[in-house]
Amino acid sequence: APQGAPIEEKLVDPPGVPAPIHRNHPARVIVRLETREVVKEIADGVRYDFWTFNGSTPGPLIRVREGDTVELHLRNDPNSHMTHNIDLHAVMGPGGGAVSTATAPGHESVFTFKAMRSGVFVYHCATPPVPMHIANGMYGLIVVEPPQGLPKADHEYYVMQGDFYTTGTYHEPGLQSFDMQKLLAEQPTYVLFNGREGSLTGDNALKSGVGDTVRLFVGNGGPNLASSFHVIGGIFDDANVEGGTLVNHNVQTTLIPAGGATMVELSTPVPGALLLVDHSVTRAFMKGAMGQIDISGPAQPAIYEKGPNTTFVSKAALPAQQSMAASAGDKAADGKRVFTQICSACHQGNAMGLPGAFPPLAMSDYLNSDPQRAIGIVLHGLSGKITVNSTGYESVMPALGPQLSDDEIANVLTYVLNNFNNKGGTISASEVKAVRA
Ligand code: HEM
Ligand code: CU
Repeated sequence: APQGAPIEEKLVDPPGVPAPIHRNHPARVIVRLETREVVKEIADGVRYDFWTFNGSTPGPLIRVREGDTVELHLRNDPNSHMTHNIDLHAVMGPGGGAVSTATAPGHESVFTFKAMRSGVFVYHCATPPVPMHIANGMYGLIVVEPPQGLPKADHEYYVMQGDFYTTGTYHEPGLQSFDMQKLLAEQPTYVLFNGREGSLTGDNALKSGVGDTVRLFVGNGGPNLASSFHVIGGIFDDANVEGGTLVNHNVQTTLIPAGGATMVELSTPVPGALLLVDHSVTRAFMKGAMGQIDISGPAQPAIYEKGPNTTFVSKAALPAQQSMAASAGDKAADGKRVFTQICSACHQGNAMGLPGAFPPLAMSDYLNSDPQRAIGIVLHGLSGKITVNSTGYESVMPALGPQLSDDEIANVLTYVLNNFNNKGGTISASEVKAVRA
């Protein structure tokens, strides 16, 4: 039976987690959640009306011990438009609590349950239409520690995947509304960790140190997609399969069903960045499912050593190409050849690019405002954020300088400038040579 005074659970914002439990007896734990409907950024410049537990997607991670009695208070913000409730997969009983917690705006419900089984469990709103409440961000994790507690880890973080359905296309700016047709088709616009593109990258990256261990509590709210959870550059020493007690070892990618979870531990023996992805990688590179762990500390060449910089090895064909491109007509034909062989792979044959991945070269305000700048882009590549025809791109174009001669670059840029509704003009080989030097 629970001992001592009830304990107020101290909840923290994701990706943080409450401290490990060191109690050797069950207790009564009071958990207070509030459902709130809040407009927040889902990606840079893109806003969405999230429905949340405690204002964040995912809601806070709840951490209790097996045998604890949880007194769960569910308040619904008076400013809400919807009734909400909570279904915790750690509960044995009707609706996981949903039946007892349907709460109108401005009201509060209370129900208690005993945490009978240890594991990592999803909680979510189960108010009809359930897929809509989940798609709008109403999910989180409850960790029930076994009586002996969890093994020690140097860092613990909380990550939860979800699929989002906006009326606008990926990265279309402004306030986006929920798209029921995309939900029905199970074709999300965004697949995200922690409810926002960039929530775990750049300044928000998770941190570790050389020689440390990292534990991730990873859930999948769905509502629709299963996750092939993978850390690029890492191996899971331990993976609690489906969040249960079975521990698998040396795992590369672990499957997390919608409405499921896992607990993984990985060592970080070398410095650098590891990337968290759904290895259905379209979601990672074109729908936002990307996170990062930055590992700091001294290099460990015995485990990982970077080779010399790559060099381009087959320049043999170039001299023939150069002599070929003599007259204006030859130059145009050569420019078209280079465009078709090289540029169109990404910018597409019609130069319209691909939304969210490759900017257009057709009618490109970016290109036309400064054609000289394009010389450096083709020679040295381009990365970082740019805006082309009011759409943002944050991707990587490889350096083509090692592969293309000065003539070829001049010809292809002149070709692009004089086609695809661009403004015309000429780039000469000597201009390319000057930038290359
Ligand atoms: C950006 C030209 C090949 C991927 C750009 C831009 C230009 C350009 C002018 C600036 C933005 C714009 O005006 O739309 C070319 C030419 C190519 C070529 C002339 C062939 C000689 C490629 C290839 C790839 C690629 C092969 C993919 C492997 C990209 C990406 C960006 C970009 C991702 C945006 C980079 C960022 O977001 O910072 N390219 N490109 N390009 N290009 Fe290319
Ligand atoms: Cu709800």
